[in-house]
Amino acid sequence: MVIKKFSDIETLSQFAAEKFVKVANQAIAERGRFLVALSGGSTPMKLYAQLANTELDWKLVHFFWGDERCVPADDEGNSYGQAKKVLFDKIGTTNIHRVESDLEPAVAAQAYANTLSGFADAPFDFPCFDLVLLGMGDDGHTASLFPGSPVEVTTPTLAVTAHYQDRPANRVTLTQLVFNQAREVWFMVAGKSKAETLKNVLQGEHKPETYPAQRIQPVDGELVWMIDEAAGSLL
Ligand code: 6PG
Repeated sequence: MVIKKFSDIETLSQFAAEKFVKVANQAIAERGRFLVALSGGSTPMKLYAQLANTELDWKLVHFFWGDERCVPADDEGNSYGQAKKVLFDKIGTTNIHRVESDLEPAVAAQAYANTLSGFADAPFDFPCFDLVLLGMGDDGHTASLFPGSPVEVTTPTLAVTAHYQDRPANRVTLTQLVFNQAREVWFMVAGKSKAETLKNVLQGEHKPETYPAQRIQPVDGELVWMIDEAAGSLL
């Protein structure tokens, strides 16, 4: 695991954008495509905006989501819709594999598992993502894996209901079964409100039920925590 601390979210996002292009080009060179699972929330938005100004063979990039809120795509709470505004509308990509967020959550979760199986890397029924982007909530959740949710999971996707800030409660999430088979997993964490939890997650006891971010332990992949000074102030 690597922890990289940046002075602010702007320099963190710039670094992430440059690394994104490197990792994407390496995947394309090795496997002819780049499979990336995006995160929702506010932290990655500057990265997505910066990616709109980068040179990449976007027709070989496939976008997925680590989780999605079950609201229509044009709802401001929809993670796909947020990325569409700042990135997809600018690069004109068509390889979007979003959660069908208009469906009933359990149906959307099953449909997304079917989408993943279309990109399966044996022996799994889902892809080994080249890159997974994750955030972390003030409560230690990641994607839509929330404190108190079952640590042992058996499916690649789950429908969950969770209340966090003023965000939509009904969600579909990938589970750690998928995240932990990725080649690269990046947490992007910024802001003072995350500092206490980040210290507990990175330096405290292993309590994955309390801190779902601790469930993310890539089997072979690289785990990178990109944090700003404020979030890392207690480390
Ligand atoms: C979501 C995300 C969620 C997010 C964290 C951090 O859909 O909201 O997947 O896990 O990454 O809540 O959100 P911020 O980046 O807004 O702090």
